[in-house]
Amino acid sequence: MSIRTTTAVDYVEDVSPGTGALPPRAWYASSDAASLSLNGSWRFRLSPTADAEDDSFAEPGFDAGHWAQIAVPGHWALQGHGSPIYTNHLYPFPVDPPRVPTENPTGDHLHVFDLPSDWPSDGGTVLRFDGVESCARVWLNGTDLGEFKGSRLPHEFAVGHLLQPGGNVLAVRVHQWSAGSYLEDQDQWWLPGVFRDVTLLHRPAGCVLDFFVHASYDHTTGEGTLKVESDVDGRVTVPALDIDVATGESVTVPVEPWTAETPRLYDGVLATEGERVPLRIGFRTVVLEDGLIKVNGTPLLFKGVNRHEWHPEKGRALDPETMREDVLLMKRHNVNAVRTSHYPPHPAFLELCDTYGLWVIDECDLETHGFVEQAWRDNPVDDDRWTPALLDRAARMVERDKNHPSVVIWSLGNEAGTGRGLTAMAEWIHHRDASRLVHYEGDIDCRDTDMYSRMYAFHEEVERIGRGLDGGTGKRRELPFVLCEFGHAMGNGPGGIADYQRLFETYDRLQGGFIWEWIDHGIKDERYGFAYGGDFGEELHDGNFVCDGLLFPDRKPSPGLVEYKKVIEPIRFEGDAADGTVRVRNAYDFADLSALAFVWSFQVDGVDVESGRLPVPPLGPGESAHVKLPRPPEAGDGETQWTVRALLASDTAWASAGHQVAWGQFPVAARPPVRVVPSGAPRSGDGRITLGPASFDARTGALMSIGAVDVTGLRLDVWRATTDNDDGAPWQSDVRHGPAWRKLGLHRMRHRLDAVEPTGDALTVRTRVAPAAREVALATVYRWTSDGDRLRLTVSVAPEGDWTVPLPRLGVRFGLSGAADRVRWFGGGPGEAYPDTRAASELRRWESTVDGLQTPYVRPQENGARADVRWAELGGLRIEGDPEFWFSARRWTNERLDAARHLTDLVPGDTVWVNLDHGQHGIGSQSCGPGPLPQYFLAAEPAEFSFVFSEVG
Ligand code: GAL
Repeated sequence: MSIRTTTAVDYVEDVSPGTGALPPRAWYASSDAASLSLNGSWRFRLSPTADAEDDSFAEPGFDAGHWAQIAVPGHWALQGHGSPIYTNHLYPFPVDPPRVPTENPTGDHLHVFDLPSDWPSDGGTVLRFDGVESCARVWLNGTDLGEFKGSRLPHEFAVGHLLQPGGNVLAVRVHQWSAGSYLEDQDQWWLPGVFRDVTLLHRPAGCVLDFFVHASYDHTTGEGTLKVESDVDGRVTVPALDIDVATGESVTVPVEPWTAETPRLYDGVLATEGERVPLRIGFRTVVLEDGLIKVNGTPLLFKGVNRHEWHPEKGRALDPETMREDVLLMKRHNVNAVRTSHYPPHPAFLELCDTYGLWVIDECDLETHGFVEQAWRDNPVDDDRWTPALLDRAARMVERDKNHPSVVIWSLGNEAGTGRGLTAMAEWIHHRDASRLVHYEGDIDCRDTDMYSRMYAFHEEVERIGRGLDGGTGKRRELPFVLCEFGHAMGNGPGGIADYQRLFETYDRLQGGFIWEWIDHGIKDERYGFAYGGDFGEELHDGNFVCDGLLFPDRKPSPGLVEYKKVIEPIRFEGDAADGTVRVRNAYDFADLSALAFVWSFQVDGVDVESGRLPVPPLGPGESAHVKLPRPPEAGDGETQWTVRALLASDTAWASAGHQVAWGQFPVAARPPVRVVPSGAPRSGDGRITLGPASFDARTGALMSIGAVDVTGLRLDVWRATTDNDDGAPWQSDVRHGPAWRKLGLHRMRHRLDAVEPTGDALTVRTRVAPAAREVALATVYRWTSDGDRLRLTVSVAPEGDWTVPLPRLGVRFGLSGAADRVRWFGGGPGEAYPDTRAASELRRWESTVDGLQTPYVRPQENGARADVRWAELGGLRIEGDPEFWFSARRWTNERLDAARHLTDLVPGDTVWVNLDHGQHGIGSQSCGPGPLPQYFLAAEPAEFSFVFSEVG
C-alpha cells in the first residue's frame, strides 16, 4: 500500500488553472487611474523542491537580507541560479500527468514596496502578473492570495484591502514544474521565473472593467461600424470621426480601414464615471468567404514569420525596445504577418503590431507535444479533467487581446494532438468572438477550425492542395490553406522558399505561410559565443535545434531573412531589354504605390554608370504597367544590365526615406568570353615546372606560385561542412544528404596522382579522387595553359562507379598566405547565396574583408558562398571564372569548419582557404522539412570548368 501525503504544495500538481485570481479581462493602460510598476530588484531564494521551505518568508517581518537579488522581470536560470534546459518536444521529466518530479526548482521571490504618497485611497487595487513560469503562489502582507498556472497569460488579484502606505510585502513562490508544464511543452528553453511585468493598478470607483471594441469595415460602402461593449456603462468618443455614443450603441460612419499595409488607427476614449481609457480603434472585417480568408473584402496573402519571444541574455523577459526592434525588422523585411508561436506574447508587442501594421495569429499557451512519445495516450487535451485549464487559457488569451485590430486569427495552440478539450476551446472562442477566425494545425480534418493549416508540407503537396486535389473531408475541401510553419530557418537556409512563394501566388486557396522561425534562441555565453541545447549539461536535449531563426540571437539578420525579404517583396519587376521596358506589378493586397519612389540604374561590368527616376504610375493593388526605360548608355564591350528599385519616398514609422522595399535586375549585353590564347610551353628544371607566371612542383604537378603569390594545396574539393539542412532531422524518411555523404566518405577524399604531363602548350595533371573503402571516384584532370601573363586552369571531372548521391560542392580549393584580407569581386552579393537561396543575390561589384564574408551560424557550418562570380581579387591574385563560379574564402579549412561546434571553435590560421566552385548542392529545409528540390541537386556527372589567374598589384 502506498500513502501519498497531502502537503501545502498540492496545488502544483493540480490540473486546475488556479484559485483566487480575478476573471480575465482586456489589457489596457488607463489615462487617469494610478499604476505602480513593481519591476526591479527583488530578493530571491532558490530551493531544490517545492516544499523544502515553509511559507514563513511571506510573513511581514521576515528578514531576507541575506538572500540573493534578482531582476524582475527575469528568469532565475539566466541570472546565475540553476540552469536552462532545452528540449524540443520531450518532457524533461517522467511523463505521469499531472505529477511532476520531487526535484522541482522553486524560487521564492520577495519584494517590499511603499505606495506613492499620492496613491488614491478610494476604490480598489489590482495586482497583475503578466507572465510567470510555470506556477506561482502569491501572498501580500502575509495574506495568501491564491495560485495560478498559465505561464504566458496574465493573472490579477484584488489587493486593495490589503495594501498599506509603506512596507508592503509581496511574496511570490514560483515552481519550475507543475501540472501546467504538461500544457507548455513548446520547443524552447524551459525557463522558470517571473519573466513579465508585475504591476499594481488602482481601480477607482466607477472604473472601466472589461470592454470589447467591435470595429468593422464595410468595403462596399467605405463605412465603419463601431460598438464598444463595456461591463460598466459609459461613453465612447472618437474625435476624428465625430463619434460620441453610449457604450453598447453602434454607430456607422465613413472611415479609412485598418490593414497591415495601411494601419489606420483612430484614437478614442472610453469614459465611465470613474475612469478614462484610451482606445486605438482599427476598423476591419475578417471573414471566411468563398473558401478564403478575407479582410475588408480582399483575400490575404500571409508573408509571415513565427515569433517566439527571445533575447540572448534575458530569455523571454523582453524589454519594450527589443519588441519594437522585432516589429521594425519585420516591416523592413517585407514581413506582413506574425504567428505568436506558441503563446500570447507580451501585450505590448500586439500594440506595436496595431501601430506598425502586421496581421497576427495570436496563439494560445498550449502544447502537449511530448505525449506523441506514447502515441498521445493520456493527452490532457483529450481528458475532461483538464478542460477547465484549457478553457481558462483560451479565455485569458481572448479576453486580454480582443481589442487589437492586428489580431485576425486565434490559434488554439500548437502540437497538442486532438481531443475534446480543443473542441471546447474552439467552441468557446467562436462563441465569444465571432469576428475572428480560428486556427489549429493539429486538426487535420478542420473539425474545429476555419482554415486548413499544415507545417513543412513539401512543395508538391502544397501544389496539390492549391489545386484542391488533397482529398480530405467535406469541410476541409471548402477551406483555405495556410502553412503555419515552413522554411525551417536552422543554420544555412532555408532553401526553396521562392518556390513556395510561386505556389502561393499561383493558387488562390494557398494564403501564404509563416517561416519557422524569427530568431535563434542562442544564449549569450562566454564559453561559446552563443550556447544551445546541451551546453548546460542537460541530460536530455535537442542541441542546436533551438537556433533556427531568420535572425541570429543578437538580432542581426541572417541571409535567410534577406532572402525572404526579396522573395516576398511587394513590388515585382520584369525587364524586357529587347523593347527597353520594365513591367512593374503592385503585389500589395491593399496599398497603392504612393509611398514609393522608383529609380533605375545602368551598370557596366557591375559598376553604375547612369541612374535616374523611373516614372511608375500610381498603380493600385494587383495592377501592373509597362514602363519605358531610357536609352541604354554606350558601354563598349562590357557586360551591361539594368537595376530598378522601389524605395520609400519619405520617412515612415518603420523606416526612413530611401529604404529599399523591392528591386529587380535584368541583363542587356552579355559578359564577353574569357580568352587566354596559349603561348609558350611548360619548362622543367630544378624540380620545378614553369608556365607563364606560374611555378609547379615537377614531381606532383602541384601549383606553387603565381608570380609573387604563393599558393598551397590547390586541388579538387567536393566537401562542405554539412549544414543543418544537409544533416536533416532524424525523423526524415527521405534521403538525408549530409549523413549519406559522410557514409560514402566525401569528407575524406584521397587524391591519387596518375600523371604529370608537361607537353605541347599545356601542363596536364591526371588524378583520381576517391574515398577509402569505396569504388566511386572522380577522375580529375587539371590542364594548365598560359598566355605569358595569365594562367588558365581547366578542370575536367568524370565520375566513375555508381554515384547514388549528389555532390556537396564541385570545384577547387587552395590556400593563400594570411596577407589576403581584402576581397573584391564582380558577382552576386553582398551576402551569401546557394542554388535555392539566391533570390537576394544582387549582381554588381562588391568588397569585403575575408572575415566579412563569413556568416556566423551559431553552430558553424558551410556558409559564405557568393554566387555568379565573374571575377574575384584577393591576396594579390585575380581569378576570372569561365563560366561564373561560386566564391568563398575563410581563415580555416572546411574540415575545421566541419568539426567546430560553436563559433569560438573557429580560430584563424595563417592561411586563407579559397574555394572556387563550379557547383554547389542546394540547401533545402530538411532540418525540419523538404530537402532541396531536384532542380537544385548537384549531380555527380561529367563537368568541365576553368579559372584564369593573374597577379594584381
Ligand atoms: C514544429 C513546431 C515548432 C518547432 C519546429 C521545429 O513542429 O511546431 O515549435 O519545434 O517544428 O523547429
